[in-house]
Amino acid sequence: MNIRICGTGSAIPSKRVTNDDLSKIMDTSDEWISTRTGIRARHLAETETTTSLAVTASQRALENAGVQAEEIDLIIAATATSDYVVPTLSCEVQRELGASHAVAFDLGAACSGFLFALSTAQAYIASGMYKNALVIGAEVLSKLMDWSDRSTCVLFGDGAGAVVVKADENAAFESVQGSDGAKGMVLACKNRPVVNPYHDDQEAYSHLSMDGQEVFRFAVRTVPVAIRQVLDKAGIAEDEVKYFVLHQANLRIIEAVAKRLGVPMEKFPTNMQECGNVSAASVPILLDEINRKGMIQRGDRLVLAGFGAGLTWGAAVLNW
Ligand code: UT7
Repeated sequence: MNIRICGTGSAIPSKRVTNDDLSKIMDTSDEWISTRTGIRARHLAETETTTSLAVTASQRALENAGVQAEEIDLIIAATATSDYVVPTLSCEVQRELGASHAVAFDLGAACSGFLFALSTAQAYIASGMYKNALVIGAEVLSKLMDWSDRSTCVLFGDGAGAVVVKADENAAFESVQGSDGAKGMVLACKNRPVVNPYHDDQEAYSHLSMDGQEVFRFAVRTVPVAIRQVLDKAGIAEDEVKYFVLHQANLRIIEAVAKRLGVPMEKFPTNMQECGNVSAASVPILLDEINRKGMIQRGDRLVLAGFGAGLTWGAAVLNW
């Protein structure tokens, strides 16, 4: 038994911030950001929260799938930026949707989070434990940024994407995942400091820090290998894939992956131009975009891939 994606949804904040907008408040330029990353704008939360974005994306995915919230028996939310430490984002979404028959939990794998969550849903559904799952990637990364660090804050955006997946004996799904904790500190953000009556770390809240060039090298080296592995596992050649939907960290990374795979860039849809890097949300937001534009038909083969902090990476191949 495999999963089939039967509905997609997404939500991004209404506040659109262009590179020129940022260049008015920090020492940067549209030229620097767009030539190095492809990013031209990102959407940042004002009134929206990680929960509100995740709920809207999920409602749209349920509607797109023609599935009622009560039919969902599993909710997995991938996020590094939930509004609460507890309760989890997935439980917040469950309440707002009225998905009273679901078990709900969060999963943390940074920018690979959506891929890991999808593989987890596949494993549960293949085991027969659950039948209909809601898989979410949602982030408000702007709250982790050091807005005085131009080398990171210009790269990221806020938003959420969700898919409804169902057990389908005619569906095809294969995935590979990997982690390399030894290199974790190249992309890091510390949690709250320890403060109790016996110990006080006296630290301010931490912000996201990144060794961009290390992450770049890691992505370009690892993602093509993971994609080849998952295609081999499924017995599929690159030219049988309609689209490669990759984590939207940087256009140059995607171009390098396409080149290493020998696949034309037309098969790699992108939206970092408008959304920036939305971590766990970037793959499901892009998937929703291409679905709603009518770019994918039933039976089309798609490759999804994520990579990022941990370090972590994941790739999946599925039939639409
Ligand atoms: O989702 C997680 C995955 N994350 C990624 O995939 C990120 C991967 N890495 C990258 O995308 C690139 O490494 C970056 C876009 C982050 C950086 O590009 P780069 O070509 O590696 O630039 P750099 O860090 O080497 O910086 C070059 C110069 C530096 O100035 P000096 O030291 O050469 O004078 C920086 O201070 O660019 C400067 N700089 C900026 N200038 C204008 C750094 N940030 C900015 C900025 N505006 N926003």
